[in-house]
Amino acid sequence: MADLSKSISTTSVALQARGVTKHYEGVTALDHASLSVEAGEIHALLGGNGAGKSTLISIISGLTKPDSGEIVLAGEVMSASGPLAAMSAGISTIYQELSLVPALSVLDNIYLGRELKRKTLGLPLASDRRRMESEVRDLAAGFGVTASELRQPVSEFGALKKRSIEIIKALAFDTKVLILDEPTSGLEDAERQVLFGHMRSMRDRGVSLIWVTHHLEELFGLADKATVFKDGRTVGTVDIASTSVGELIGLMFGAAQEEFGGGDIRKITHLEPSTGRRVVLSAKNLSRGSVVRDISLDVHEGEIVGLAGLAGAGRTEVVRLLMGLDARTAGTVELEGRRLSLRNSSAAYRAGLAMLPEDRKQLGILADLSTAQNISISSLSTVASAGFWMSRRKERALAEDYRRQLGIKTPDVDARIGNLSGGNQQKAIVARCFNTSPKLLIFDEPTQGIDVSAKVEVHALVRDYAAKGGAAILIASEIEELLELSHRVLVMKKGQVVGEITGIPAAIEEGHFARIKSEVLTLSAAGQNS
Ligand SMILES: Nc1ncnc2c1ncn2[C@@H]1O[C@H](COP(=O)(O)OP(=O)(O)OP(=O)(O)O)[C@@H](O)[C@H]1O
Ligand SMILES: [Mg+2]
Repeated sequence: MADLSKSISTTSVALQARGVTKHYEGVTALDHASLSVEAGEIHALLGGNGAGKSTLISIISGLTKPDSGEIVLAGEVMSASGPLAAMSAGISTIYQELSLVPALSVLDNIYLGRELKRKTLGLPLASDRRRMESEVRDLAAGFGVTASELRQPVSEFGALKKRSIEIIKALAFDTKVLILDEPTSGLEDAERQVLFGHMRSMRDRGVSLIWVTHHLEELFGLADKATVFKDGRTVGTVDIASTSVGELIGLMFGAAQEEFGGGDIRKITHLEPSTGRRVVLSAKNLSRGSVVRDISLDVHEGEIVGLAGLAGAGRTEVVRLLMGLDARTAGTVELEGRRLSLRNSSAAYRAGLAMLPEDRKQLGILADLSTAQNISISSLSTVASAGFWMSRRKERALAEDYRRQLGIKTPDVDARIGNLSGGNQQKAIVARCFNTSPKLLIFDEPTQGIDVSAKVEVHALVRDYAAKGGAAILIASEIEELLELSHRVLVMKKGQVVGEITGIPAAIEEGHFARIKSEVLTLSAAGQNS
């Protein structure tokens, strides 16, 4: 009998995954998963942390071999394997974890393995840098990367710009299927819109886009379909036009969880005016060249101070100065009245400062240690009591507590954290921060990559920490998150504080959310082009 499955695939189906299964030690990452994406369609791939999204992407991109199942591209079962085969078949991927080579220039990263050669006779052919540069210059400019930045090494840029470079890299080539694994995480509104514009125009040119996101509200008006994964299995495919955030959450987590989408925001508790409250952190006239210019800020007991601003405004730079990760050129920092002169982050932890870094891979996880070790690593005193065995037991118990609370998906808290999915690693780093019982906690994009269900739990932990008197500084590119969690917001621009908004919880309660939001946006952008 003829194999019907091959002949019935119509030409409009660009890519299919059929019965894909992948086991790791103790984990079934994918269990007969399927996906069908048409040409000229934006197809969202949804699911909670650890549902199997990145694993399927890695299989489609040729990085991982499935145990069984097949990938069908334009009606043909892909027989060649490996990332180069996938690339030359027209599959481009923006991975969840950045994969740029830090020492190479932006341009070299974009053209890595696909350099344009000079059309001269005679060998060897030199790469034609001028042509490569002129071909990507306009695209790069759209993502805020200038022509001179194209020549700088990637290591000189922050996480936001690195992500833009990844995106440029994927968009720069003739692509039939573009896969984006959480491309907007850490991007601010304007940059998201630029990216979405590019996604739309690629769709209109017939490209198929596979898009992983935890920001479900982003899908509406942009994605055409969504396929939902749960525990490695395909739950179903829905049309975005006829679904809702609530329905999607129901598919992702089961009907009982639908409330997460219903705007269940546990409001931050009111904070009495800061007069009379103990100042925990006091920074005065902090500067670092022209990147941070004369910033003073106090954080009080029980207070969450948000830092708002556009990319490059200097928010991450300020907290890096506080943590002693960069040297300040002027200013002082006091923690509970004691002058700090920190030289590295372990000194900061000892002094009572903890930070959740924006770049998990670089500063956060210790990939080869276990989840339990990663959670307790910065607070060894809390687990290292009566001898080694005892402390191991405490370490495990502690990790188990956080595993339950945040739903960290791992077969065993003693298993290597590097094997966890992106969002689950992030949850463990969040747990670590709380666990150090610091005097001041700094959060830089705390819910990056975390699914909607765990996001509610992380927010609850942040609020609980403040309610018990903890002090915190928060950076969040998603302005809704920033306003929902902060008592007070400082707006930064070009390394300076250009405005302050106080009394946020009360204002939100009185229904002024939209007004504060536009105030923050206006302050952030004011005179941007002057
Ligand atoms: N190399 C590996 N070794 C062991 N287990 C792995 C490995 N890679 C993935 N897993 C497991 O497979 C499951 C699926 O992970 P995957 O990264 O595909 O999830 P995801 O849907 O992308 O999640 P997230 O939203 O957090 O990024 C997880 O339980 C993860 O721990
Ligand atoms: Mg993932």
